[in-house]
Amino acid sequence: MYLKIVENYEQSLSAQIKKEQGIVYTPKFIVNYLLDKTIAKENPRILDPACGTGNFLIEATNRLHRRGKSIKSIIEENIFGIDCDYQAISTLKSMFAKHCPSHYNLYTANALDKNFLQNIGKFDVVVGNPPYVKIQNIRPYERAFLKDWTFTKGDTDLYVAFIELAFSLIKDDGIIGFIVPSGFIKNKMSALLEWLLENRYIEELLDFESNQVFPGVTTYTCLLVGNKRSKSHFVLKKASHLADTDLDDLEPILKDYDKVNNRTLLIAPDNEDFVYRMENSGPKLKDLVDIRVGLQTSADRLFFLRGELEDGFLTYKGYRIEREILLPCCKVSRRQYGYIIFPYHIEDNKAIPMSEGEIKEKHKGAYIYLLRHKVELIKRERGKIAGKWWLYGRAQSLTTLFGKKLFMPSMIKEPKFDLCENEHMVYFSGYAMFGENLKKIKEALESEDFKRYIHITSKDFKSGWKACSKYLIENFSISSLSVI
Ligand SMILES: C[S@@+](CC[C@H](N)C(=O)[O-])C[C@H]1O[C@@H](n2cnc3c(N)ncnc32)[C@H](O)[C@@H]1O
Repeated sequence: MYLKIVENYEQSLSAQIKKEQGIVYTPKFIVNYLLDKTIAKENPRILDPACGTGNFLIEATNRLHRRGKSIKSIIEENIFGIDCDYQAISTLKSMFAKHCPSHYNLYTANALDKNFLQNIGKFDVVVGNPPYVKIQNIRPYERAFLKDWTFTKGDTDLYVAFIELAFSLIKDDGIIGFIVPSGFIKNKMSALLEWLLENRYIEELLDFESNQVFPGVTTYTCLLVGNKRSKSHFVLKKASHLADTDLDDLEPILKDYDKVNNRTLLIAPDNEDFVYRMENSGPKLKDLVDIRVGLQTSADRLFFLRGELEDGFLTYKGYRIEREILLPCCKVSRRQYGYIIFPYHIEDNKAIPMSEGEIKEKHKGAYIYLLRHKVELIKRERGKIAGKWWLYGRAQSLTTLFGKKLFMPSMIKEPKFDLCENEHMVYFSGYAMFGENLKKIKEALESEDFKRYIHITSKDFKSGWKACSKYLIENFSISSLSVI
């Protein structure tokens, strides 16, 4: 009877409303698993902050009732629900009304509204399936509430705020149980994950990997069980096959809080030890070098020229470009060397753009070449720099490229890091490291250990390429530079 009401209600909602409010109701086996993990305590005060028509709350009521308490008292004392959908709350109230005529703790409200939350108190258990809504689809008035939460800056999702909300609403010995998208555990830069790990809030994490839990909807999800108890480990489970799996039977992997971090969360335990060693056997790269991004011309193909210099000119596809407007340059991603047209003067650590007139007058060959490609140059950055079509698309970091450096491609197959002794050489399509001891750092980064480190921690791309992002490699430690 109850399930029918829920199904009918869900089917009555339009696709647009479902998308904007993240309405997808939770399968029973998930509700059961999360309640098994969370409502052990006697007489718990339970909140579902996005309760919909009450999948979690009704099952929780049944369970507490089986322990001997009357349904009326449970609804009055133990069960709390919030949802911004008035219809959903009314549907749930009408179901509760059969047992408890008047007093419900069910609120039609925005759960992220801190004013509303002020008087709601603390809970032994916060459970549920919060809304998953990408920032682009969050309605404008709702975005305003996101400002009050810590991890919802930039490209975010509503569920991220709900995780923080849950931890803010549990008592010191309370517990949370949520099904949420697994994006935050896959993203190695997730500030939310970092916070959960630093505070040791995770008790259990169950990753559904590529398995789809919600019929008819593609979402990659995980279960997060968390609390504020002090602990040295948490349990990681991976559900690689869902069809005939009892979640209780999944093999638990114990993760050591002393060793785990954003990069090692999902890797196998023996690799975890290796990564820990690689990140802690000397000073970290981020403390040794400054990693800087290269030039951004927005038309590298036109500015970067590979040809022979002769008699003060570079001959390139029939053009003769003056040496004075060129700088030696490396295309880091391909380890290719050549020259780049550099229409700037560096003075007092500032990049002063050349005027069109100056190029035309002093570097006629370069001007003819650039003019020949004017149509293409004008189109860069969606036409925003059309009035300065002979300059680079972006000119932020033009002065920080000089000096001795170690080039660092952002994708690698075999780790190869070219040392550049030519202080005047600039670069694009990758990064460079600036600092002392570059030779030793180069050796360390071209080692088998580094290769294995990247292999374990970094994302796979096609044909054996691995991402070598600044964020990832800056944690690698250089044992040959340890001070003993
Ligand atoms: C994924 S559904 C989950 C419903 C229910 N907990 C379940 O598991 O079946 C998410 C619910 O969040 C509600 N919702 C969306 N934004 C909300 C907000 N800011 N505050 C409270 N509820 C919200 C939606 O109306 C929807 O009922």
